Amino acid sequence: MQTTIRSEKPGDYPGIKKVNDLAFGQPNEGILIEKLRENSAFIKELSLITELNGEIIGHILFFPIWIKNGQNKHRSLALAPMSVLPEYQKKGIGSQLIFKGLETARELGFKSVIVLGHEYYYPKFGFVVASKFGIKAPFDVPDEVFMGLELVPDGFKGISGIVQYPKEFEEV
Ligand SMILES: CC(C)(COP(=O)(O)OP(=O)(O)OC[C@H]1O[C@@H](n2cnc3c(N)ncnc32)[C@H](O)[C@@H]1OP(=O)(O)O)[C@@H](O)C(=O)NCCC(=O)NCCS
Repeated sequence: MQTTIRSEKPGDYPGIKKVNDLAFGQPNEGILIEKLRENSAFIKELSLITELNGEIIGHILFFPIWIKNGQNKHRSLALAPMSVLPEYQKKGIGSQLIFKGLETARELGFKSVIVLGHEYYYPKFGFVVASKFGIKAPFDVPDEVFMGLELVPDGFKGISGIVQYPKEFEEV
């Protein structure tokens, strides 16, 4: 399979929506991406697609977030959402998107990534439970599904607190 991973372009928006709608079986995540795109913090280089013969078959978004502790706040990234068309799942497409996204985030100077997701999927990319760093979700979730990854050595050093997602995450 000759796939290409690249940053999104305006012509990709319908294809990105379609991949999300079909992967999640609901429109919420596609709508979330459209809303986040209107947010000035959106970074198009961190909205990556996998293309196969001109068709978008996978998508991943990393969006800037804050980790707040009292008056202190530190920049990080949330990996959310990610999707692969059902017929192309379990072929490594998702893993390739994660690796490319982490590499791009590092190049852009980000030091860490947070993910709320499957406890058996994300650890293989280096994610560990975020509570290990004293980082908590702003809502109740089982400890093992809320994870963090240091993109650089000590990426979370001296950083603890509660993750603050942009308001769009609560709207869908
Ligand atoms: C989650 C999701 C994006 C993963 O994408 P994917 O392309 O299927 O992911 P991968 O192929 O990299 O990995 C999936 C599994 O296939 C396995 N796999 C990877 N390459 C493989 C290959 N060449 N042959 C067989 N299996 C393979 C992986 O080891 C992994 O196994 P695991 O379940 O034991 O971890 C996809 O399943 C999806 O869109 N799900 C619905 C939406 C969703 O839940 N998104 C995540 C929350 S935001």
